[in-house]
Amino acid sequence: MESKFPKKGKTWEELQNEMIEKSQDDMDYEHGRHSAYVWHAGEEVEAVARRAYSMFIATNGLGKIVFPSILKMEEAVISMVLSNLNGNGAVGHMTSGGTESIFLAVKAARDRGREKRPDIAIPEIVAPFSAHPALNKSAHYLGMKVIRIPTRPDFRADVDAMAEAVNENTVLLYGSAPSFPMGLIDPIADLGHIAQKKDLWFHVDACVGGILAPFVRMAGYPVPDFDFSLPGVTSISADLHKSGFAAKGASSVLFRNPKLQAYAAYHFDDWPSGQYSSLTFTGTNPGGAIAAAWAVMNFLGEEGYLEIAKITMRASKRFEEGLAKIDGIHVWGKPELWAVAYGSETFDILAVAAKMWEHGWMVVPNSQPPGIHFMITPVHEPVIEDYLAVLGKSVAEVKNSDKPVKQVAVRYT
Ligand SMILES: Cc1ncc(COP(=O)(O)O)c(C=O)c1O
Repeated sequence: MESKFPKKGKTWEELQNEMIEKSQDDMDYEHGRHSAYVWHAGEEVEAVARRAYSMFIATNGLGKIVFPSILKMEEAVISMVLSNLNGNGAVGHMTSGGTESIFLAVKAARDRGREKRPDIAIPEIVAPFSAHPALNKSAHYLGMKVIRIPTRPDFRADVDAMAEAVNENTVLLYGSAPSFPMGLIDPIADLGHIAQKKDLWFHVDACVGGILAPFVRMAGYPVPDFDFSLPGVTSISADLHKSGFAAKGASSVLFRNPKLQAYAAYHFDDWPSGQYSSLTFTGTNPGGAIAAAWAVMNFLGEEGYLEIAKITMRASKRFEEGLAKIDGIHVWGKPELWAVAYGSETFDILAVAAKMWEHGWMVVPNSQPPGIHFMITPVHEPVIEDYLAVLGKSVAEVKNSDKPVKQVAVRYT
């Protein structure tokens, strides 16, 4: 087969031009016509992340002995996150993203469960229907079973039904703060009580809310407790590359105490190079992502995050008010953060989603129940009215059309 490598290397200018050309059809996240994939807090914040990442681009988070700078920055990031999550005595470490953080919490719960009850063949997890697929992905790799329980009519975890689903194989109870599809915080305190009563590991998936939700509370909005202030909470995942606005490849997984964190580790020494120990799923991991998270958090500081919280909450409330004026649309549940999901009983909301894509808005459809959801970030504030206008127009088009509209499905590939 002929080599696909270019015979001669190219100049940076040539490469840059080619990459600009390739990115012509990429999602335009800077102008807010999107509702997933990118959390953008403006060019200034992105530039800080980019510079910090490139300063440490060659470093390897696996080798913190030789890169003490990375270790110090990781420790600082974790202590910032824990200080906002009532993490006295708690510990944590950084990972490549929400999925890895969840994987590590699930692995730790499995290993602790097995230690206590070695007879469990397939350890089970009880979770609300709205839990992110990262949970099933983790369970799949870890040889565990997930039991998803339908949510209550308010789209939050049904605590009683989840308690009933717990059996002798259950090792882990799961809740979200908030869930991805509905943007609603599960009744974490009540789930924590069940976990304590039944001696279960309880993981809170705060991948979306973990960094910014405390600032939403500081801004004066009521946010229910979802962190280590609740004694039943064993571990929390909080993504820095989501509401922390860091560069991609940065999340945190937090444990109530070091003993629980130790269950997440992997140790091996039966090979020529001796002891290999790691707290992450990845081996080599980018020190740049750790540096970028540290730099963005220190660049924004409390004031910066508070300002972002105020902007996104203002935009979310305006968005909800606007939705209420569109006949036939209703918001699902009562969102306490910046994520809003809505549907309709009078027309085909997925056809509306397809129309919005046609009009250049990348909206994310929900399937069960059918709807659309929107994670609002600072870049959305200036375009909320545009979004609502395009939504109103799309609704009218669907109502006035007798042809079936091709539906969209966001493909997470
Ligand atoms: C609630 C929740 N948990 C977990 C994840 C997975 O995070 P990641 O895509 O960073 O692996 C997401 C991603 O959107 C999420 O919304």
